[in-house]
Amino acid sequence: MKEIKHNILIENIKIKNLFKYINLPLYLYSYKKIIFNLFVIKKIIFYCFYSMKSNDNLFILKLVNNIIKKFDIVSIGELKKIILISKKKPYIIFSGSGKTLSEIIISIKLNIFCINIESIQEYFKIYYFIKKNKKKINIMIRINPNISAKTHKKINTGSKNDKFGISIINLKNLFILCNITKFNIIGYDFHIGSQITSISPIKKLIFLISKLIKIKKVKYLDIGGGIGVNYFSQKNIISFSNYYNNILILLKKYIINVKFLIEIGRFFFANTCIIISKINYLKFNNNNNLSIINLGMNDILRPSLYSAYHKIESINFGKKIKNIFGPICESSDKFVNFKKIKIKTNSLVIIYSCGSYGKVMSSNYNSKLKSYEIIIYNNKLKIIFKIEKFKNLIFNYV
Ligand code: LLP
Repeated sequence: MKEIKHNILIENIKIKNLFKYINLPLYLYSYKKIIFNLFVIKKIIFYCFYSMKSNDNLFILKLVNNIIKKFDIVSIGELKKIILISKKKPYIIFSGSGKTLSEIIISIKLNIFCINIESIQEYFKIYYFIKKNKKKINIMIRINPNISAKTHKKINTGSKNDKFGISIINLKNLFILCNITKFNIIGYDFHIGSQITSISPIKKLIFLISKLIKIKKVKYLDIGGGIGVNYFSQKNIISFSNYYNNILILLKKYIINVKFLIEIGRFFFANTCIIISKINYLKFNNNNNLSIINLGMNDILRPSLYSAYHKIESINFGKKIKNIFGPICESSDKFVNFKKIKIKTNSLVIIYSCGSYGKVMSSNYNSKLKSYEIIIYNNKLKIIFKIEKFKNLIFNYV
C-alpha cells in the first residue's frame, strides 16, 4: 500500500474514492497475484488438489478450475459449488472426518475421483452402498501417523489425540477387512496440520510411509496440505519448490513408488488479499490507549480464534496506539499487534494475508452483514461478492 496525496494506491490503483460508495470493511484481492500463484503451483506439482475450504468465492473457484482443475472438498455444499462453476467434471477428492451417508451417496453417484476415508465405520457405509447398488468408487485411507506438525495446537491434525484419520493400530484391521471384502484401496492420505513452516515433520512422515508401503503397496500417496505462509511480510517463509522437491527426493531415497498428490489451501491465496477497514474510535482509558476499528471477528476470525498475527498497516499519521479491537461484543475481538502504529479517527487500516481462511470463516455474529469482496482485475476494481442484504439475515425464520 502507498499513500500519495491523501489517496491510497494499491497496484497503482487509487482506491480511496471507492469508499465513498462502498461500505468498509472490504476484502481486496489481487488478480495478478492469484494467477501468478496458480501457475507456480501447477508448474511444480501436477497432482495438486485445491483445498477449497480455504477460499470458496465463486470467481476464485473459476480461476482454479481453469488452471488447476482439481479440488479437495469437505462437504456436498462445496461439491455443488464446483458443479455450478465447471462445465467439465474436474478431479475431486472428498476429505473430512464426518461425512454423512447422503454426502457419501451423492459423491459416489457423481463418480468423483476419490473418497478419503477416516474410520472403519465410514468404510462400511461406503462398502454397503456400492455393493447394494453395483457402483464403484476409489478410496484412500487417511492415516493418523501420530506425528506433530509443530504448528499451532488448534490446526495440528496428525497427533494421536487429534480426531483425524485411522490410527496405525486400526490400520491392520482395515487391511484384513479390505482383503475379505475384496475392496481395493488406491492410496494413503495424510494431513498432519496447517501452517507448517519446517520440513522436519514431513521427513518423519515419509519415513513412516516407507515402512507402510512395504506392508501394503498403494498407487497414490496424498500428503495433504499444510505448507505455511508468511503473515509478517509478503515474502515466502518457506519455498514451495524446495519443500516439494525435498519430498520428492525423500520418496526416491526410500524407493516409494507412488503417484504423489497434495491438497493445499492456504498457500494458494493467503497473500493475495488484504482487508481494508477504518478506525471508528480512539479511547484513552487509564493507561490503556486503544482503538476500535470497523472490522471484527465476524469478518476475520483468525486473530481471535487462534491469536493469529496478520500484519497491520495504517497511513502512519496521528496517535501511536498498539491495541486494536473490533466492534463485536467479545473481549477476544482483538487484533494481535506487536508494535504501536500511528492512527487517527477515520484512518484507513489494512490487514494483510486474508485471502485464505478469511472470508470463508466470517459470520453474521452480532447480526453483522458479510462484507464485500473486490478484486483488482485488469487495472479495474471488480466486485466478486456483494455486501449481504439485511433480508439474508431474516430469510430462514419461520
Ligand atoms: N487437507 C485437509 C484434509 C485439511 O484438513 C486441510 C485444512 C487442507 C488439506 C489444507 O490445508 P492448508 O494447505 O490450507 O494448510 N482455519 C485454519 C486452518 C484450518 C485448516 C483446515 N484443514 C486457519 O485459519 O489457520
